[in-house]
Amino acid sequence: MATAIDLAKVIYQVPDLELMKTTLLDFGLVLAEYGDQVLYMRGTGTQHHIHETRLGDEARFVGAAIQVSERADLDELAGMPGSSPVLANTDPGGGWVVRMTMPDGFEISAVWGREEAQALPLRAPNPFNSGHSKERFNESIRVRSEPSPVIRLGHFVLRVSNHDESVAWLQERFGMLPSDHFAPPGETGPIGGTFLRFNRGKKLVDHHSILILQSDTVDVHHSSYEVQDMDAIMCAHDYLRSKNWKLDCGVGRHLLGSQVFDYWKDVFGFRIEHYIDGDVVDADHKAGLFNGTAGETTQWGMEPPSDFFT
Ligand SMILES: [Fe+2]
Repeated sequence: MATAIDLAKVIYQVPDLELMKTTLLDFGLVLAEYGDQVLYMRGTGTQHHIHETRLGDEARFVGAAIQVSERADLDELAGMPGSSPVLANTDPGGGWVVRMTMPDGFEISAVWGREEAQALPLRAPNPFNSGHSKERFNESIRVRSEPSPVIRLGHFVLRVSNHDESVAWLQERFGMLPSDHFAPPGETGPIGGTFLRFNRGKKLVDHHSILILQSDTVDVHHSSYEVQDMDAIMCAHDYLRSKNWKLDCGVGRHLLGSQVFDYWKDVFGFRIEHYIDGDVVDADHKAGLFNGTAGETTQWGMEPPSDFFT
């Protein structure tokens, strides 16, 4: 089984690349490369790019790329049903790629050997004076409403027609581990959602990099990007409001994964999330079962709108 170590990027298609670029710049991503047919955006981290947009008539989510640990992982994936051979990656950053198609038609690639980008400058987290621990003294916090730099792609969420099939597909190819499951309120099954993380042994990873949700609608639910701290998420929130972007849900704190979240809708109707302070776990973490109501998935802050869970 291949060892997957990180998300490389999400891939969308829209009819107007310039509009997508404007959205993503306001959201704190940085231009990596821009051509007639495709737009690549990056964060401040070392991934060459984390967001690809292809030009096309219809706005849709295309898929994602997942970074694997070594070249041999690609060889193994290339031998699985429906996989391409190992190909030279023609995307910026290069390296090698195996192209696959998930159930419901999402294009998932495994990539290895992609060139790393130089990390971009990023302010340090603002020191925080909690009740018991004072980290800031003889200085003040001064912040502005402005785009907050996105550091990295944290996770994406897919609504699928067959939850079990999609989860098995990802686990068989990438060795992903479940961190939490959803079941209907008061029931232990059937499982309608699974939070999946990468298996990196004792190394800490995000509580989830992919969430798979059983749904009547096959689509992306959202993609999510990590920013530096509470000031970053709130300054971005005020900035996005000032630019009249449509607030979807935020700010609040999730139950599963514990992230402080802020969701927005872009002009194409895609939901996009800023987050901070998510749980990180190692391979010893045991999956939990959540069988409460949708409203109970928010610990504090703005409750999600009714269409959030459909
Ligand atoms: Fe999320």
